[in-house]
Amino acid sequence: MPARADLIHLRGTGTDAVVDLSHGAPVIVHWGAPLGEGRAGASISAALDRPLVPGSPDVVAPISVVPEHGSGFPGRPGLLGCRRSGAGWAPRFRPAGHTLDGNRLAVAARDGVAGLALTTTIELGHALTVRVELANTSERERYLLNGLSVTLPVPQRAAELVTFTGRWAREFQPVRTEWTQGAWTVENRRGRPSHEHPPLLFAGTAGFREWTGSVWGAHLAWSGNHAMIAERLADGRRYVQLGELLHPGELTLEPGESYRSPEVVAVHSEAGLTAATQQFHRHLRARPNHPRSPRPVMFNTWEAVRFDHDLDRLRALADRAARVGAERFVLDDGWFGSRRDDTSGLGDWTVSPDAHPQGLGPLIEHVTGLGMQFGIWVEPEMVSPDSGLFRAHPEWALTTDGYEPVLARHQLVLDLAQQDAYDYVLGQLDALLSDHDIAHLKWDMNCDHMGASGAGGAPGTHEQTLSLYRLLDELRQRHPGVEIESCSSGGARIDHEILRRTVRVWTSDCVDALERQTIQSGASMLIPPELMGAHIGPERSPATGRRHDLAFRAATAFFGHFGIEWNLLGLDDAELDALAEAVSLHRRFRPLLHGGDAVRFDTESAYIAHGVYAPDRSEALVSFAALAWAPSQTPPPLLLPGLDPDRRYEIQHVPLPGEDLGPQRSTPAWMTGGAVLAGDELAHIGLQVPPLYAATATLIHIQAVRDDT
Ligand code: DGJ
Repeated sequence: MPARADLIHLRGTGTDAVVDLSHGAPVIVHWGAPLGEGRAGASISAALDRPLVPGSPDVVAPISVVPEHGSGFPGRPGLLGCRRSGAGWAPRFRPAGHTLDGNRLAVAARDGVAGLALTTTIELGHALTVRVELANTSERERYLLNGLSVTLPVPQRAAELVTFTGRWAREFQPVRTEWTQGAWTVENRRGRPSHEHPPLLFAGTAGFREWTGSVWGAHLAWSGNHAMIAERLADGRRYVQLGELLHPGELTLEPGESYRSPEVVAVHSEAGLTAATQQFHRHLRARPNHPRSPRPVMFNTWEAVRFDHDLDRLRALADRAARVGAERFVLDDGWFGSRRDDTSGLGDWTVSPDAHPQGLGPLIEHVTGLGMQFGIWVEPEMVSPDSGLFRAHPEWALTTDGYEPVLARHQLVLDLAQQDAYDYVLGQLDALLSDHDIAHLKWDMNCDHMGASGAGGAPGTHEQTLSLYRLLDELRQRHPGVEIESCSSGGARIDHEILRRTVRVWTSDCVDALERQTIQSGASMLIPPELMGAHIGPERSPATGRRHDLAFRAATAFFGHFGIEWNLLGLDDAELDALAEAVSLHRRFRPLLHGGDAVRFDTESAYIAHGVYAPDRSEALVSFAALAWAPSQTPPPLLLPGLDPDRRYEIQHVPLPGEDLGPQRSTPAWMTGGAVLAGDELAHIGLQVPPLYAATATLIHIQAVRDDT
């Protein structure tokens, strides 16, 4: 049967999509396993033709990328908005042409009655990316836009959802639920992606696991407010819908104006969650700004000195950081303005003569003289009411006139959509970077948007988010050598759009390794290891008060952009040597850790098992961690699927400095003498791990036997 002209077949890496253009807004009729050539024939539509059922409209409205209430769609419409009179609230689009450029499809649709034009862009590569743009084609009337989301249909066999919760210092906590009839929904109004509801969700077949089941995942690449919904309709169909959350009155399209939605990045696998999340990683790795150089071992001053900056102390810390092998030294909060604690100074981005009487020069020279790069902390979108900037320009704060503003951490958000405020911040940052030898900016954001009105009184989060991107872009253009890290009270701003402009995220303010195991496992479902800031913190975690030995802290930080955030001045020589050994081990495995495929393994809930496989499957490094005192005395053998089934691998335990896994009456033979196993044996028989103390981790190195072909 000949291919139908209005069915477009897109081929990605491991996933195909078939898009039906006959309705208006495109309908993705297949998003899943690859199909043979020329299969986008009429039969797909015939095969999927849904019968009419009693008690329902006389049509089955499709789940298009922007489903339409006016066409009979019973779920949440993709477009919410209307004219001032209320008209135009239930638009129905008709096809208006398309272009196909390789794997990039652009589909135009129009509604002449409502005076609207819709353009959908769908691209399939490592991931499926979809965005929609709405134009007001009326010549006279404005359009009040309340929301324009991307909707993706998910096959009816998806029976479970994995969504995320969290809070400060406990980000990316996955939650598995049955996908029952009705809607699971999240609305985030914090002005940043948030600690508790990162814009990410997965749906899958019943019991899908890391290496089994069909999985569909979607992420909204946006750093402001968002809404997500996963609905199972009464007729059994399912969809996920992700978009920017707009406050009332936040967006008005004047005649001729348009709104472009954030991009939805979507992934799919027929072989479980790990393979699906690798698509997110590959998608990020393909972006032009992805770091190609080895990720330098970081030392960050925050947990060592907080606001107590003193040149001699900082120099001594730098000496020790260099001694243990750090390659970049980041001076955190406290170096500028009146910032001697968190109650003042934000907005005054000039070096404090109290904290650094001789400027930053002596510290930077010392750090670079030790062979390390220098980095510095900033929080450019903020202003403290107690600051020179606020005293000079109270009108630059993103607040609502007539009301007492609500503060968070004693601070307010600065309205970067006001050009003068934007120019001021750009000028200050530009000067900071021009006047100093700075390789890294830790860009923090610690205040929710609350009643954040722009200059005209309308909600300001949308414009602020675009202004933030503009500021980052302009600064990167002026200082292309500077790497920028996205931090937001830890991991409250981790998304693919901010990562187009940044090369690292501060995953969490929690450096407690026990919590970090879960946080990093959740974050690994969206970002690859080399972007995930992971530090060895102090023995006693400042966030949780728990104590963990160095081996566990090192094993946990190992699988990320590794660093240290600890007062090294309190360590004796033996402790410094042990830390140096951990750093050097990380550096030995760094090319594998930062270039391989991140994998997670299914095991009992007391444990977390994960690792990285070399893309050619010649090598792997795996971590098996005990989070709790387990019900069984011995853990289950660790199954390691996904290596080359026909290759033989040498298995070796990689002891970490000071490692004490627990009292063992005997140790599994492979841990003491090594072992050689084939990939299929590792997948189906596995490795027996010894009983472990709670809060310990063991590293396993797996290397293909050299003379095997
Ligand atoms: C919040 C960040 O998450 C911390 O790492 C640290 O940079 C502080 N802000 C500094 O105020």
